[in-house]
Amino acid sequence: MLFPEYRARRLRRTATLRALTRETRLDPGQLVYPLFVIEGKNSRHPVASMPGVYQLSIDTLAAEARQLVALGIRAVILFGLPATKDHSGSSAHAKNGIIQRAIKELKNTVPELVVITDVCLCEYTDHGHCGFIIDNEVDNDATLEILARVAVSHARAGADIVAPSDMMDGRVAEIRAALDEENFVNVPIMSYAVKYYSAFYGPFREAADSAPRFGDRASYQMDPANSREAIREATLDVEEGADILMVKPALAYLDIIARLRDEFDLPLAAYQVSGEYAMIKAAAANGWLDEERVMAETLIGIKRAGADIIITYFAKQMAQLLAKGQF
Ligand code: PBG
Repeated sequence: MLFPEYRARRLRRTATLRALTRETRLDPGQLVYPLFVIEGKNSRHPVASMPGVYQLSIDTLAAEARQLVALGIRAVILFGLPATKDHSGSSAHAKNGIIQRAIKELKNTVPELVVITDVCLCEYTDHGHCGFIIDNEVDNDATLEILARVAVSHARAGADIVAPSDMMDGRVAEIRAALDEENFVNVPIMSYAVKYYSAFYGPFREAADSAPRFGDRASYQMDPANSREAIREATLDVEEGADILMVKPALAYLDIIARLRDEFDLPLAAYQVSGEYAMIKAAAANGWLDEERVMAETLIGIKRAGADIIITYFAKQMAQLLAKGQF
């Protein structure tokens, strides 16, 4: 059918027609809200580079979680700022570590909320790298056992899903084996399968106090130029036992999200990272962009590219808009 028989504008004429024929929808139940957990009491520290994001003490988590559930959000991902850091990141698997206590608090007070934990060492090591350092290099194999201990400690505290973000080779298999050995056979692994070496993580490093003290993460995170390698990374993680795959960041990697959607049948997550959030907030604060529309447009783009689950600092704001029947 060609013009004038076919007129594309017929279905765009009214808001209801557009809504009726819309191909992609956002669901607050598939948005995951990141939480930064700090020591202390009754604390809510704003993160300067991420307006609207706060570091929260454990006693404030329950109220936050209730608010999320009321908005239809089903899951959070936790990042911890520990009281102490050391060479091997041992506070990451401490029985009474910040994340372990946060998980317990959340599962005790809002049990229906899915608690995902970021499994990594960068917030817990005094050098800020995601693994164990030997001779000034992040040693892959020495890191695996530590990561497995972290994952098991999270499962023991009650985590619903563990999400390794370190980018060591072989970590999904190591974590799966360790979980199974401790009888956590039903704890899924959401693997940061395709995580790029990205400058978009900048604001997160302030929020999580996790910037590397020397060098950078280019020797373990992926080169942004690579797409075939993304398939290779995801294939390995599937073979090692990943239950959910993730692409990170999101907006500059929509082609990768679409490719993974085509090639794999596992649930696919995308992480709209701190820098993606900060850019929109900064431009909106200057009056240069319409914040709500740009937020919704980026999130719908990520969904349209093929992501089922979106991890985003906009989760609450987007859920509020959806509840009002907008977008
Ligand atoms: C930990 C981790 C990072 C992010 C999630 N997990 C930082 C990094 O890899 O440097 C980034 C999230 C964001 O920027 O919002 N390794």
